[in-house]
Parts: sequence; C-alpha cells; structure tokens
Amino acid sequence: MRIFSGIQPTGRKHLGNFIGAIVQYVAGQEQEGESIYCVVDLHATTVAYEPGVLRERLYDTTAILIAAGLDPERSILFRQSDVREHSELAWLLSSVTSWGDLNRMHQFKDKAGAQRDLVSAGLFTYPVLMAADVLAYRATTVPVGDDQRQHIELMRDIAARFNARYGDVLVVPEGVYPEVGARIMDLQEPTRKMSTTGGTEEGTVYVLDEPKAIEKKFKRAVTDSGSEIRAGADKPGVTNLLEILAAARGTSVADAETSMAGARGYGDLKGATAEAVVELLTPVRERYEALRADEGELERILGRGAEKASAITADVLTDVRAVMGVGCPPAARR
Ligand code: TRP
Repeated sequence: MRIFSGIQPTGRKHLGNFIGAIVQYVAGQEQEGESIYCVVDLHATTVAYEPGVLRERLYDTTAILIAAGLDPERSILFRQSDVREHSELAWLLSSVTSWGDLNRMHQFKDKAGAQRDLVSAGLFTYPVLMAADVLAYRATTVPVGDDQRQHIELMRDIAARFNARYGDVLVVPEGVYPEVGARIMDLQEPTRKMSTTGGTEEGTVYVLDEPKAIEKKFKRAVTDSGSEIRAGADKPGVTNLLEILAAARGTSVADAETSMAGARGYGDLKGATAEAVVELLTPVRERYEALRADEGELERILGRGAEKASAITADVLTDVRAVMGVGCPPAARR
C-alpha cells in the first residue's frame, strides 16, 4: 500500500480537518508501505491569492502537520511545486483527460461562481494536476474528504485511459473517505458541516484556537430541545457534541453517552467536550508555535521530502515519457 494525499496550504485548519484528515494522515504512518503527503501550493494559485501570503500559509500548514504528529522521517512530506514532475505529468495526462468530464466537475462550477474576476484555465484543469499528484507516485490509496469523490473518480478514469492507450504504466488508485471527520458539524448550525468557507465563524473551532476561544465556542454551541443527552437524528446539536467528544477522547459515541449519564444538562456536555478538545489541541498548538518560529528548519524538512519524492517521480516520468513517445528514447540515453 502506498498512501498519497494532498492538503491545501491554509493555516486555518479546523476541527473537522483535524479529526477527518490530519489524524488519518498520522495513522497512515503505521501502515505497511509508504505514506506521502504533499502541500499543494500549485493548486492554491488557481484562484485569487497573494504570493507572500501563500508562502506564509504553506509554512503554517507544514508546521500544523508536523505538530499533529506527522513524522517527516517516516512519511514523505513535501511542497508540490518543489517536485517539477507534477506539472509535467499534468500536461501529459491532459491528453487522456476528457474535456466533457472536466466540464462536469462540481468543484469547478462552485469555485468559478465564487471568483470575482478571472476564472482561470488552471481552475478548470485543477483535477488533472490532482490526478498527476497521485499517479506520479503509483499510489494505491488516497485518503480525502467526501467532497473529493468526483475528483478521485476522474483520476481513476485518467489512469485507466492512459493504461488502455499506452500500456500498464500507471496504478489506478482507490479513494478512502474517513467517516468521523465528515460528521463534524458547525457548532452554530449543526446540520451543516464544519467548514472554513460555508460555516459560521463562531461555530468553527480552529486547531490553533486558544483554550479560552475553544471554551467560548462550545459554551455557545447550539443544542436541541429537551435535556436528554443521547445521539439521534432528532438531536443534531447534541449528536455533534457527542461525536466531537468521542473523537477527541478516541472512544465510541456510545461510550461518550455513557460517560455523560450523571450530567445535569447540556451545559455539562458542552463543558466536557470543550475540555476534551482543549486537551487534544493544546499540545498541537504548543508544538506548532515552536516549529513555525523556525522557517529555516521547515525549509530543510520540505527540501528533504522533495528529494525523496523526486526519486519516485523521476522513475515514473521516465516510463510515461517512453510509452508516450515524447523526449529522447530511453535506448538512446547514455
Ligand atoms: N483537491 C484536494 C482538496 O481540495 C487537495 C489535493 C490536491 C489532493 N492534490 C491532491 C488530495 C491529491 C488528494 C490527492 O482537498
């Protein structure tokens, strides 16, 4: 098994990202085989952005990942733009990508609709670069959020079409969709997913929030009528708090319910959940502060990751170029 995932360079990672994605990345290190994580700065250029801010956010994200337990010795952690083969493969794969399929991508339509001026061609071909990210490593397994399903299906189609046309050179990867994180809801609107773009500011808990801010957000969390502490479709607010409590403690929702049996009301549930989340995130925030302060060291880690990544992509690109008939034929190389 070879795990690959890409993460957007934003410093504002929230509890849903943390529990749904980052914790899974860290767990991926325990698997047999490699785990490869890429901070996707090239993807970030497809919408309006500030170059200086992008660099800052890239460091923020790298530091959060390491602070959360991602070990750059055991995983490959690198910056997308440092490994030039991603861009090259994206171009090569664009010739086996259906324009009609790209035109059906929900994320393109959503993001294009949100742009104030330029809707870039890069935004349109975003899924091809994403396919290249994964296929350049012959990765087998791609942990991603549910919103990425369409991109994963397209990536699989691209790999299969490439192999059908040129021979079995690429691996058709599988998406894996973590269950828990997908269920972390906004604390103010517990029927909507916690999200930096679609959610409320008050209802979104960030990984780097101070304990006081976390406590305040939980204290103000929206709950349901009644006073019974149990999970159920009729109780979205309470269910969300129990899910968060369980995830933060690493137990089941049933255990979280049982632990609240003696509670006097929803206030106790909010307090217990806030406490568990503070306990979960405080060490991460503290390690983050130390790591983020040393950009030289972050660059060193990313540079080392890029070296390891390039060793893999160089071989894959040699094969891709050879079967596609572009570049100097391997037999003529010396
Ligand atoms: N599109 C993904 C997202 O928005 C990020 C991403 C880029 C990615 N390249 C990837 C995820 C490759 C998995 C594999 O979350």
